[in-house]
Amino acid sequence: MLNAAVIGCGHIGKLHANAFAQCENVRLCALIDTDPERAGAAAEQFGAKAYASIDEVPEQIDIVSVATPGFAHYSVVMDLLERGIDVLCEKPLTLGVEEAREIEKKCRETGRRIGVGFKMRYEEVFLKAKELMPQLGRIYAVSEVKSQPHPLAGNRTWMSKSGCMHELAVHDYDLIEWLMGADAKSVYALLDYSYGWETENGARLTVEYENGAHGMLLSEYCSGEGVVGGYDCAMTFIGENGYMRIERPNRIVLHTTSHQVIDVTPVPDSEAFARQTKTFVDSILNGNPFAADVKRGVWATVFVEAAHRSAKEEKKVYVKDI
Ligand SMILES: NC(=O)c1ccc[n+]([C@@H]2O[C@H](COP(=O)([O-])OP(=O)(O)OC[C@H]3O[C@@H](n4cnc5c(N)ncnc54)[C@H](O)[C@@H]3O)[C@@H](O)[C@H]2O)c1
Repeated sequence: MLNAAVIGCGHIGKLHANAFAQCENVRLCALIDTDPERAGAAAEQFGAKAYASIDEVPEQIDIVSVATPGFAHYSVVMDLLERGIDVLCEKPLTLGVEEAREIEKKCRETGRRIGVGFKMRYEEVFLKAKELMPQLGRIYAVSEVKSQPHPLAGNRTWMSKSGCMHELAVHDYDLIEWLMGADAKSVYALLDYSYGWETENGARLTVEYENGAHGMLLSEYCSGEGVVGGYDCAMTFIGENGYMRIERPNRIVLHTTSHQVIDVTPVPDSEAFARQTKTFVDSILNGNPFAADVKRGVWATVFVEAAHRSAKEEKKVYVKDI
C-alpha cells in the first residue's frame, strides 16, 4: 500500500486526487495547496486531510501528484525527490531546460521516479490511433492543429507566462513522437505574441523528425472575451500506404487500401487521468518502466526551448544543440 498526496488542488489536482482514490493499492492521505480553501474543499471531497505544505503531513508519503502551475514544478518536485518520494508531475515538467536537467540528475542520485502527465496518451482516440499506425508504413509527413479557448480569468493568469507551447501544444508534440516512435530532430518556429502575454499565445512549427518525416504544427489560444468555443485538436499522418486523420475526441479516418471512418467512444477526462495514475502506481510497485518518464519530460522542455530559440534567431534549430 502506498501513501499518496496531491500538491496543487485546482482543476487538475482534483482529477489526480480522484485517480488516487480509485487505486486499490493507494491510500490518499493529504491534499496540499498554498490556498487553504482549495486544499480544504478537495480534502472534503475525497475524504482526506488538507495541508498547506508537505512539512505538516504526519504520515510517511510514498507518492505525490504535483498539479501546481508549471512555474512551481521545479522547487516542489526537487523537494519531493530529496524526501525520497516518487512523483507524478503534470506537464510541463519545468519551463526551463536547466531546471529539467537538474530534476533528471536528482532522480539518478535519489533513485526516485518521475512520471510526466501526458494524459492524452490514455485517451481512447489516441490509443486506437497507436494501434492503427503501423498500417501507414513509413511516415513522410504529419500535420497538427490545436486550439483552445483561454480566458485569462481568476488565478489562471499564470498561464500567460507558460505560453501556448508548454501549456497547450506540448501534449500534441509528445503524442506525435509517441505515435511515430521517432523524436524531433530540428525545429523552425514562428511564434505569435499578438495578445501581449509574457510569452507566445500561438506557435507555428516546421519540424524534422529522426525517421525522416516532416511536421507542420499549428497551435493557438482563442482568448476573445466571452469565447466558449474554439476547441480543436486534429492531426494527420501521411505514410507510404495512405493517411490517417485523428479528430479528437471521437473519430479516425484511415484511408489506405480502403476508406474507413472509425468512430471511437471517448472516455471522460477522469478516466484518462485514472488510467495514467494506475499505470504509474503499478510501475512503482512492480518496478516496471513508465513510458512518459523523466527523460520524456526533459525532452519536451528541450524541444520547446529549441522552438523559442528558433523564433528568436529566425533560423532552424537542432534539438541536440540545446
Ligand atoms: N494534463 C492535462 O490535460 C492538463 C490540463 C490542464 C492543465 N494541466 C497542468 O496541470 C497543472 C495545474 O493546472 P490547473 O489548471 O489545475 O491550475 P489551477 O490554477 O487551477 O490550480 C493550481 C493550484 O496549485 C496551487 N499552488 C500553486 N503553487 C503552489 C505551491 N507551491 N504549493 C502548493 N500549491 C500550489 C494553487 O493555489 C492552485 O490551487 C499545470 O501544470 C497545468 O499545465 C494539465
